[in-house]
Amino acid sequence: MKKWILAGLCFCLALCLCACAELETTEPEYVLTYAENQPQNYPTSLGGERFAELVKQRTNGKVIIQVKYAGEYGTDEEVAEQMRFGGIDFARVSLAVVADEVPILNVLQMPFLYKDAAHMWRVLDGDIGKEALGAFQETGLVGLSWYDSGARSFYSTKPINSIQDLQGMTVRVQNSQLAMDMITLLGAEPVYVDHNDVYYAFVTRKIDAAENNWPVYQYMEHYLVAKYYTVAEHTRVPDVQIASQRTWEILPEEYRTIIQECAQESALYQRNLWVRNDIFARATVIDSGCEIIHLEPEQKLQFQEMVQPLYKKYCSDYMDLIKTIQNDIVVKTSTGE
Ligand code: GCU
Repeated sequence: MKKWILAGLCFCLALCLCACAELETTEPEYVLTYAENQPQNYPTSLGGERFAELVKQRTNGKVIIQVKYAGEYGTDEEVAEQMRFGGIDFARVSLAVVADEVPILNVLQMPFLYKDAAHMWRVLDGDIGKEALGAFQETGLVGLSWYDSGARSFYSTKPINSIQDLQGMTVRVQNSQLAMDMITLLGAEPVYVDHNDVYYAFVTRKIDAAENNWPVYQYMEHYLVAKYYTVAEHTRVPDVQIASQRTWEILPEEYRTIIQECAQESALYQRNLWVRNDIFARATVIDSGCEIIHLEPEQKLQFQEMVQPLYKKYCSDYMDLIKTIQNDIVVKTSTGE
């Protein structure tokens, strides 16, 4: 009798070993690339890593996404360009570098559009955000999910206490016509520098100022070379996870659905991480002795008024949409919420 039990156990063990071996040797059907321009421990990078893990799990290893960090595949704009030809399959990029061609995408990055982060998320998580993800199709890309990139403010080698201090400064901007025009309207000189070269642009004095969120200021060590941070919060430019339309077309429906779900889940994970990292970055730069400048309300209003012509130039066909977004502010503030 004992012999039979032993034989049975051996048989089960053998079955388990075979199953494990099969799992180990599962051949992926697709090995796909994913570009990220931030360092590996940055919140958007961790979001990308989570996305890849989820896709691997839910496709039982049939779809593998290899994430490359720190701009290994090129600048955001080079990545978007390569994606249109199917050279790179996925990426997380800033909306700023893909919006120039699609006006509705510009709407979502207009200066002083959102009252705060919660307002922006109501827009992006609602119908407007969904429609905007759909609009990526016009550019040979597929919009998958929105990632948080906080609010952008100015940081500089000399203090910016008012609009007067900004006059004539060279200010680094993203590769975006809207960003260039915004800086020109504010009386400064826009200079395009790739994200990964901003530190050196400060060191070599190519620029006097840049504008970005707290985590970039801290993670990219810009705070070591530009110690004044002026909390203007002039824009909230969301980040976005995208896929190449060419890649998308060859993926079976079943995998597309999984990928879309995983992108959304990774976005929720990233947004949580963002909140914590934003606080951490702010505390770190304050501890290190950076000077944080809070604009007086009338100064902030002046910034806001000076960039108004952008609405006419970039959104004249979308004024109703702009009003719909802004009305959220009116409704919320008038009811005291
Ligand atoms: C944001 C965004 C980056 C982008 C950067 C920039 O922080 O997350 O992907 O490169 O802005 O200003 O270039």
